[in-house]
Amino acid sequence: MKKSRLFLSLLILISLSTPAWAGSRVKALINEQGCLACHSVDQKMVGPSFKQVAERYRGKKGSLSMLAQKIIDGGNGHWNDLTGGMMMPPHPNLSSKQAKAIAAWVLSLK
Ligand code: HEC
Repeated sequence: MKKSRLFLSLLILISLSTPAWAGSRVKALINEQGCLACHSVDQKMVGPSFKQVAERYRGKKGSLSMLAQKIIDGGNGHWNDLTGGMMMPPHPNLSSKQAKAIAAWVLSLK
């Protein structure tokens, strides 16, 4: 009885802390990759802020894989009004798993 309660509270603890842990891993990745030279969470820089991206795509079908692919391939065209047509550079060194983790984090921002 006591043991199973301990196990349960451990499970709850782990599930509560996982999103924050995933978020800090993504933040480290974004830092390493130099994304912050052109993006910030809530201010438009060279590219749109990550919150602007979240606002535009949250809940839209296919947006997670589209954004992950765009992070790897780079490109322009979606934010020309804001950027004057600036290109986002490609990041071919990122795995699709890493790019998806970044895209999921971006989409979770509010
Ligand atoms: C040299 C500047 C630059 C760097 C570095 C950069 N970006 Fe961008 N990013 C842009 C620009 C410009 C756009 C707008 C592209 C467009 O209009 O479609 C953009 C768009 C985006 C979008 C929205 C894509 C869309 O189609 O709406 C995401 C997500 C994003 N960047 C994530 C990242 C991540 C993650 C990194 C690092 C791995 C990164 N960017 C590095 C300039 C940059």
